[in-house]
Amino acid sequence: MKIWGISDTHFQHGQVDSMSNYGEVWVHHTEKIIENWKEVVSGEDLVLIGGDIVWSTRLDQALTDIRMIDRLPGKMKIIIQGNHDCWWQEYESVCGAMPETIVALEGNAVKLEGQVICGTRGWISPNDPDFEVLDRNTFDREMVLLRNALDAAVKLDPVDGIHLLMHFPPFTTNGYRTPFFDRILEYPVITCTYGHFHVKKEWDALPKGMIEGITFHLTSTDYLENKPVLIWQG
Ligand SMILES: [Fe+2]
Repeated sequence: MKIWGISDTHFQHGQVDSMSNYGEVWVHHTEKIIENWKEVVSGEDLVLIGGDIVWSTRLDQALTDIRMIDRLPGKMKIIIQGNHDCWWQEYESVCGAMPETIVALEGNAVKLEGQVICGTRGWISPNDPDFEVLDRNTFDREMVLLRNALDAAVKLDPVDGIHLLMHFPPFTTNGYRTPFFDRILEYPVITCTYGHFHVKKEWDALPKGMIEGITFHLTSTDYLENKPVLIWQG
């Protein structure tokens, strides 16, 4: 069994080529993701989808793309909210609308195929140069949700360690560790996936790979050239 990751797919409920103004990698990016996904993901695998999944303010619209993800290979797909998933309002409504193979996480955890996965969106941190006063409440709330997610994961007996799914990286835009990072270190986390960033300068600044025993993966679909990346293999 393998765990794959991808994020920031910015699907637009069936609209073809909706992102092509953003560069070559975005031209027909939905089709590219589907093709690459089918190539690597098997029916036994899990796929972590780290937010900014669909451009929409309406849950019913977003479900067009969520159902498309449901039909793709993979035993289960685990999703979290990104800052652009405005269709994701009440967590209970989101969970109630999810098709069979999709689990939505928001400050909680799930055990699938013997692997414990927890997730939360994260947010911009006070030590980030782009942090503003208005970010404080969401930052504080997300620090609590991360604690809740990791505590829930520990209760599920993570024999191999915890897989943490976030949208915002636990690093600043210029690559420094944030309070989220310090919190993650308090738990037996083995993988942490994050996305959110779409600019090469930011990609270059972000720490990736093994740090303090945790493997960090940047999963923005444009960074991955629309190919799901291998996060873990059993
Ligand atoms: Fe984002």
